[in-house]
Amino acid sequence: MMRHLISAADLSRDDAVLILDTAEEMARVADRPIKKLPALRGRTVVNLFFEDSTRTRISFEAAEKRLSADVINFAAKGSSVSKGESLKDTAQTLEAMGVDAVVIRHGASGAPYRLATSGWIDAAVINAGDGTHQHPTQALLDAFTMRRRLVGRDAGLGKDLAGKRITIVGDILHGRVARSNVDLLHTLGAEVTLVAPPTLLPVGVETWPCEVSYDLDSTLPKSDAVMMLRVQRERMNAAFFPTEREYARRYGLDGDRMAKMPEHAIVMHPGPMVRGMEITADVADSDRCTAIEQVANGVHTRMAVLYLLLGGNEPAVAHARPEESK
Ligand code: NCD
Repeated sequence: MMRHLISAADLSRDDAVLILDTAEEMARVADRPIKKLPALRGRTVVNLFFEDSTRTRISFEAAEKRLSADVINFAAKGSSVSKGESLKDTAQTLEAMGVDAVVIRHGASGAPYRLATSGWIDAAVINAGDGTHQHPTQALLDAFTMRRRLVGRDAGLGKDLAGKRITIVGDILHGRVARSNVDLLHTLGAEVTLVAPPTLLPVGVETWPCEVSYDLDSTLPKSDAVMMLRVQRERMNAAFFPTEREYARRYGLDGDRMAKMPEHAIVMHPGPMVRGMEITADVADSDRCTAIEQVANGVHTRMAVLYLLLGGNEPAVAHARPEESK
């Protein structure tokens, strides 16, 4: 197992399956009356959030507490110091306090990588979402949800998602969820199709290991899971589609469209959902939508990641700091 989790692309098939299997073990703990494990007793984990978050922050905190770690929450929003400096200063403060892991969400793509490779800290770094780049634990919890629903809870153990057809719809350009999912799903053997207006697809998407379509209706009948993504307005600096109505009409999932999906197929959403935009309320509230299940699975998956990175199968030894960064 690696020391940091920065990108879903860094995970091998075996790493990913090990995390998913470990998450199933963690899920069994969640079914007990006392949900706590002593695995990270005496370890300190810092949640360093430079960007807004509801689900991811709470989910990491729940995962850390269930593993008995000491948890420090640091909401860095509103800091006036320039990004690079403030990250370094903050990192060195954390290092002085002796933290074992840093869970970081940052608006700048690459911030977690910088933290992990700069030599500023010895702690394990877990990326909880960086800019438009990566959100690996989201991809893992999504894969966990898909494996459970499409392969089976027990039947899925040790297995990947070979041959499953996953459609990801919406703002691929600004979202880190799509990119992370494409990387991980490809590693796990799934066939991914992205559906979005051309303006919301990144340059170079043709080099990604997936198909691209502009036509949602023709893709739905061929999907085992349809993942709806939010339009990331906070990252937009121009008009990417004419109106919200037009977007919802062409790329939103409503009841009529959902009826085109195979009966076993699920609707996924990482949250936050914008009802009436990418998903209608009846679809969001239907039994086929796994949004809430994904949140519960997020805790199991993040417990598995923390446990494995902090010594589940190897001791979390303190690494020497590279000389040049002193
Ligand atoms: C996503 C994110 O922050 O990247 N949300 C999440 O982590 N659950 C997706 C989004 O903001 O739309």
